[in-house]
Amino acid sequence: MNNAPIGVYDSGFGGLSVWLELHRMLPCESLVYLGDGKNCPYGGRSREEITRFAFEAVERLVTEGVKMVVVGCNTATTAAVDAVRAHWSEMPIVGLEPAVKPACLTTATRRIAVLATEHSLRSDMFLRTAARYAEDVEVVKVVGRGFVELVEGDRESTPEAMEAVRGVVEPLLDKNIDKIVLGCTHYPFLRPLIERVIAGRDIEIIDSGEAVARRVRWLLDRYDIAAAEDHNPEYRFLSFADEEYRRGLERKASKILLSDNLL
Ligand code: DGL
Repeated sequence: MNNAPIGVYDSGFGGLSVWLELHRMLPCESLVYLGDGKNCPYGGRSREEITRFAFEAVERLVTEGVKMVVVGCNTATTAAVDAVRAHWSEMPIVGLEPAVKPACLTTATRRIAVLATEHSLRSDMFLRTAARYAEDVEVVKVVGRGFVELVEGDRESTPEAMEAVRGVVEPLLDKNIDKIVLGCTHYPFLRPLIERVIAGRDIEIIDSGEAVARRVRWLLDRYDIAAAEDHNPEYRFLSFADEEYRRGLERKASKILLSDNLL
């Protein structure tokens, strides 16, 4: 039993899509969310830079007394999770990878699309996973150009967002894909728009949020560090950007909790 918080980290707002799943599945757990904000977006940055940011973030969460860290960012996971795990070897650290495996195991057309950041798509981790599970599956790799900026600017419900999503998703429609993997935690915030573009097609959208929350639940049991059933959880929000950004995280979290959805 351990009532210390779980730390969740992302480059910005995206990890709130993971935070929501944790909140739903683990209602007794306190959560400390760190949305970097200052260095976002990570997607076009080098592995070295992202690794440095990830170390700073985990260090900060550790000083907040977390019992576990969820790297709620595919980009930071692909760049740095191995190094971070090696450094804090005593603490469970959960990473997030584009859900290539479940998509490959269930595709009927043997063609899937993976939407992720530039960094994630060229990372060794992604290439390894793709080589392992997508041997006889064609993986169409697409960067969600502008998606992160739209979510960071709270502009997911605008015509501009619809246009950006259409520009990225429409070209996929004649590629005979039956799965779209959302390989960036910002992208689930645009899911309703993606659904509008693929409406009427037999295409499933897959994101990793729920699977990660299940993994966290499993690890809490395995390490015997779950919070007590009567624990009254606290939710805190931190950022390396300014106070206004930090409040934005808080507001967004309240909003998605109230609607029990990302939009
Ligand atoms: N949310 C992040 C991810 O899952 C990264 C977005 C970014 O900062 O580019 O990949």
